[in-house]
Amino acid sequence: MNYPAMQGLTLNTPAYVKNARLVAWVADMVALCKPDSVYWCDGSDAEYQRLCQQLVDAGTFKKLNEEKRPNSFLACSDPSDVARVEDRTYICSALKENAGPTNNWMEPADMRATLQPLFDGCMKGRTMYVVPFSMGPLGSPIAHIGIELSDSPYVAVNMKIMTRMGQAVFDVLGTDGDFVPCVHTVGAPLAEGQQDVKWPCNKTKYIVHYPETREIWSYGSGYGGNALLGKKCFALRIASNMGRDEGWLAEHMLILGVTTPQGKKYHVAAAFPSACGKTNFSMLVPPAGFDGWSVTTIGDDIAWIKPNADGKMYAINPEAGYFGVAPGTNMVTNPNCMLSVRGNTIFTNVALTDDGDVWWEGMEKDSGSLPDHLIDWQGNDWTPEIAKQTGAKAAHPNSRFTVAATNNPALDPEWNNPAGVAIDAFIFGGRRSTTVPLVTEARNWTEGVYMAATMGSETTAAATGQAGVVRRDPFAMLPFMGYNMSDYFQHWLNLGEKLAASGATLPKIYTTNWFRKGADGKFTWPGYGENMRVLAWMIERIEGKAGQGQENLIGVSPSYGDLNWNGLDFSAEQFESVTSIDKDAWVKELALHAELFEQLAYHLPQELSDTKAAIESRLAA
Ligand code: GTP
Ligand code: SPV
Ligand code: MN
Repeated sequence: MNYPAMQGLTLNTPAYVKNARLVAWVADMVALCKPDSVYWCDGSDAEYQRLCQQLVDAGTFKKLNEEKRPNSFLACSDPSDVARVEDRTYICSALKENAGPTNNWMEPADMRATLQPLFDGCMKGRTMYVVPFSMGPLGSPIAHIGIELSDSPYVAVNMKIMTRMGQAVFDVLGTDGDFVPCVHTVGAPLAEGQQDVKWPCNKTKYIVHYPETREIWSYGSGYGGNALLGKKCFALRIASNMGRDEGWLAEHMLILGVTTPQGKKYHVAAAFPSACGKTNFSMLVPPAGFDGWSVTTIGDDIAWIKPNADGKMYAINPEAGYFGVAPGTNMVTNPNCMLSVRGNTIFTNVALTDDGDVWWEGMEKDSGSLPDHLIDWQGNDWTPEIAKQTGAKAAHPNSRFTVAATNNPALDPEWNNPAGVAIDAFIFGGRRSTTVPLVTEARNWTEGVYMAATMGSETTAAATGQAGVVRRDPFAMLPFMGYNMSDYFQHWLNLGEKLAASGATLPKIYTTNWFRKGADGKFTWPGYGENMRVLAWMIERIEGKAGQGQENLIGVSPSYGDLNWNGLDFSAEQFESVTSIDKDAWVKELALHAELFEQLAYHLPQELSDTKAAIESRLAA
């Protein structure tokens, strides 16, 4: 190869890399980004340890106390780079209407022209890491391969935990296997002799997807979904396009197994928006009063779901690790999570204790008191007194841990099964302090799709911008949809119709809300493990054992007596406060559905407008 800009630089391509398209692409990207060197990740443990040590030496990582948190590290990001940047995320399809009104769009040629000067020389003074990864079990027919080129060693070590990363990917890829090219740069080239900073990034950020050519280009951020491109960019935005073309679904869903006291096992996939309880629910520990029930985790964030010849929908978790929200996690809210992060964990933007361990808001519930002193995520002293005066959080509200799924004591034995697990129910659940009741069952597939499509949720710290505002978040996919939202609704309807026509029993669809608040501003539903009461009701509905429930405006809800209250003091009045339907609030809610449907009018399925009209006439009755 003879690339002028590569003079003096070797690609270092290992002998086991035999894919010509891959090698040519890496050469092109090296010529464009102009790194000082190229390093091909092999995914070994030795490599992981070496890169972590390198990050410690660079000041990006702090090694935690080996006794308290073995083989674990803390990274604190630049305060400007702490979450996904939805306003900088683009779907650059050839036609604007294929990105749809919920996505930022730019014509592919214009975007390429915009990015070219930004990427030109963007890796100067840095190493380009070639990160080969598989979403889904290596070599399985449902898995897809990506190659991420990144100038961030933090990305390389996180990808090792979050995906099946390493040399074996090249064996699967062979000489002409397909892969999704993912280019990532922090956008901070170093001049000769320039000292690096702890967390390089750029004020300018672009998270760009070209759905037709299945490419991802990410510029300027080193954080989470902006930088770990296998996750939202590939497994949701690009994969949703693959799924539309090939007849399957890429969803922002946890997957769990739930086993009844009779030993019968069911599988549930649940879509809650970012920081609205997927990790928690996927690791749920049944409370006292639920002897014999157990819940096991298949995935905590993303599901790929494919209809099978047997008429069932099979789900796999394409990831291999969890990038989960730290604040609020403790031995009461999520014991399996606390046990998962005891060691071999990367923490990002949590606080550091004086004895070299980590801390975040919510951990005081376990220890019984606040720590006397911490270094907060921005490197400042933190004391309970300072927190009281300034309201300063020790951990950033979107601080996270990165940990391998195999650390999870509740990991489902089927989690790695390439065939996936057959889904019995879907749940869609937003964060709503008012209006939406605890749980509702859709009477049919179309009503379920309507519930999912019109879901509203209060925004959280998982994305930059104002937190706590109600917005429509269809299917919890608003920030992750890789094509036109209305076409996606149609895709769900079509899939259901096709399976029903084959005589299959479709999964039941539920909508939940764990987040109603009382006049005192406090949550009225205890949540967390107590959500088992709702999950058990769903399973009993599936088994045909639950009570009649009551029909309401939007579907079927349990009566007080339909839920198992063993071990919890929760009165009928309290139940009323979490399940009641306020007509005035629902008139306003339907107006918001109407607003959404106006926005999505192009290709909006007629069935959804009809469903809305039916709800409105029930409301008027
Ligand atoms: P992403 O990783 O951003 O997609 O989010 P996630 O849906 O996995 O969110 P996660 O489970 O990490 O929950 C985030 C926040 O929701 C934490 O602060 C939890 O304490 C809180 N949370 C989870 N479940 C419940 C619940 O049942 N009730 C209440 N009140 N809060 C909950
Ligand atoms: C989310 O925001 O839904 C996440 C975290 O799961 S991130 O990977 O940063 O998008
Ligand atoms: Mn998520």
